[in-house]
Amino acid sequence: MSLTTPSPLPPGVRVVVSELAESPPEAIGTTMSIVPMPAPDPAALSPRDVIVAVRSAAVGWVDLLMTSGQYQHMARPPYTPGLESAGVVVWKGPAAGGEIAEGDAVLVDGLLVGPRSLGAYQAYGGFASYVVAPVEAVHALPGALTFDQAAALLGSYETAYHALVARGRVSPGDTVLIHGASGATGLAAVQVAKILGAQVIATGRSDAKLAVVREHGADHVINVRDEAGGVRRFRDDVKAITGGRGADVVYDAVGGEISLESLRCVSFGARFLVVGWASTPHVARGKGQRGAPNANALPTNLIMMKGLDVLGCPAVISTVHDPSLRPPRLAQVLRWAAEGRIRPHVSHAFPLAQFAEAMRARWSGEVIGGCVLHP
Ligand SMILES: NC(=O)c1ccc[n+]([C@@H]2O[C@H](COP(=O)([O-])OP(=O)(O)OC[C@H]3O[C@@H](n4cnc5c(N)ncnc54)[C@H](OP(=O)(O)O)[C@@H]3O)[C@@H](O)[C@H]2O)c1
Repeated sequence: MSLTTPSPLPPGVRVVVSELAESPPEAIGTTMSIVPMPAPDPAALSPRDVIVAVRSAAVGWVDLLMTSGQYQHMARPPYTPGLESAGVVVWKGPAAGGEIAEGDAVLVDGLLVGPRSLGAYQAYGGFASYVVAPVEAVHALPGALTFDQAAALLGSYETAYHALVARGRVSPGDTVLIHGASGATGLAAVQVAKILGAQVIATGRSDAKLAVVREHGADHVINVRDEAGGVRRFRDDVKAITGGRGADVVYDAVGGEISLESLRCVSFGARFLVVGWASTPHVARGKGQRGAPNANALPTNLIMMKGLDVLGCPAVISTVHDPSLRPPRLAQVLRWAAEGRIRPHVSHAFPLAQFAEAMRARWSGEVIGGCVLHP
């Protein structure tokens, strides 16, 4: 039996969003700051809790949209951003079970902890020195994943799984057209579609970024940028690759013009997976005023005549309506990571104090795959 009292954890810091801004860039410059954070007090926690010293926190597109209340799930300010994080267990409650030990490297489940969660752990965003989590929300780092890769795993790969497997029913031989393929969820979708046996055509606006997408498994890449910076006509490229048939599945995380052009190069009966709209982020009003004055629209004439299935793919909302979707999805993503079959690419890492630079890098499209902060 130890006669010494464990030394208290040192204080840390965290990022706080004090109020919802008009837009994410405005939030970065005005309503976000870094403040001292007392270490969580074990005496005040549940016996089933663990304290994680955060080593890496993902900076996601959703983290940005939340700062202006333009994301469908609104965090109430003041709050700490950071949907996903990974770190080291520095305290474990007496009833937290035997699978996780102090000193273990873990990732934290953003559906149960942090600003995207619905329960009692919303305050523990990952842009902080510490996160408190119920023991069921932490998982040992799978396989050879680093803290940075683990922090960039679940949101992106679970979204790819939900869209391609649960909604798109992608099977071997399908041709999948993936937009925003250099992004967090797009790059995950490239890897998951390859595991499912599909042929992957990936799109983007930068040859350099598309070269990385190809390294991660894309069979074909198409730069869709026109000379004026808009979206060029790429239907002929897709038809040439598919022998005139068109894509069987579209994974659309970009929206806007690219969605419309896609409808011109899909096969009859194709599945159009609506994942997001990175090119039109201001669908809802800023400052959390809701409404969708700038929502994307798809032409019903093409949907009808091509017999398309247009499928909305909200990875988190779907689990609220059907909780049975989550356990097999989470297990499969962790298994693929453990087997080394999926490997998140993280192009940018910053110290926590440079959260503004990290968020600007994500917003301006510099990032390939993941961007992380190191508290
Ligand atoms: N359905 C879900 O459950 C779910 C889950 C997570 C995210 N999402 C949504 O999916 C979308 C993508 O998320 P993400 O995390 O992958 O974002 P991300 O990492 O920022 O990637 C978005 C990609 O879109 C491409 N893009 C094309 N036009 C763009 C434009 N005008 N502005 C910015 N990017 C543009 C960029 O690639 P290039 O520069 O190569 O063109 C970029 O890499 C977002 O709308 C997000 O809200 C949905």
